[in-house]
Amino acid sequence: MERAGRLLADAKSVVVLTGAGVSAESGLATFREPEQGLWARYDPMELAHIDAFYRDPELVTRWYHWRFTRARDAQPNDGHRALARLQEWLTRDGRGFRLITQNIDGLHQRAGSRDVVELHGTILIWRCTKTGDQYPLDTIDFSSFPPRSSAGGVLRPNVVWFGEALPEKALEAASDAAESCDVFVSVGTSALVWPAAGFIEVARRSGAATIEVNLDATPNSEAVDISLRGSSGELLPRLLDRAQRLRAAEDQ
Ligand code: OAD
Repeated sequence: MERAGRLLADAKSVVVLTGAGVSAESGLATFREPEQGLWARYDPMELAHIDAFYRDPELVTRWYHWRFTRARDAQPNDGHRALARLQEWLTRDGRGFRLITQNIDGLHQRAGSRDVVELHGTILIWRCTKTGDQYPLDTIDFSSFPPRSSAGGVLRPNVVWFGEALPEKALEAASDAAESCDVFVSVGTSALVWPAAGFIEVARRSGAATIEVNLDATPNSEAVDISLRGSSGELLPRLLDRAQRLRAAEDQ
């Protein structure tokens, strides 16, 4: 923790990549954990693949609507809030910061994070498959599934499914940030889904120090400079606190 705090205290530009683990303490299920993980209970090929949507739009949109209600009713936790405070602190100091997330739940933004790169889109916006227009959720009639737009097209969540490309702008912003940061922090992700899983290696090869915060070991744990084992809701506030104290001591 001391070494990780020191890295953040001295960093000129920080990138944080988050996954489902950061929202676990808000009561939202992760994907790959045994028993509780969504993919332990549901088949991603039946629910989160573009072909599944075309095969059974009713089933897929019902499931995403259920996930939307879970996200809407959840509250950001201490981990989300610590990342928003980290951004505020670094940018106030004129240092760089970029938050990249694989999460679609909008909890980072609700905690106060800005300019979040949403690699896998957002469940809070749905779009018409006929016109491409986006619809705010409060204008959508979810009394029948799949929901329809005012143009009569089927509405789908604005997320990235398996079998689909990531949004180009988000991908570019994430790659640029990973290449140019000097500290890269990976939080609450199993680091198994690409291209997100590869950004830490991009950052490392570009000379950045790497930190992982996770309850368990991941494929990156051996390769990172510092692996902090524990919950993000507990560790991120401590990490921020440590970095701020070290920085304040240097400034005196
Ligand atoms: P995973 O479910 O694969 O991994 C969650 C990680 O969070 C695991 O490594 C856990 O050990 C860790 N974890 C759980 N609770 C934690 C906590 N409180 N604090 C810290 N770590 C914790 O989720 P992702 O890596 O986000 O994509 O999955 C990536 C993508 O795979 C998702 O965006 C989704 C999924 O299929 C699509 O649906 C396209």
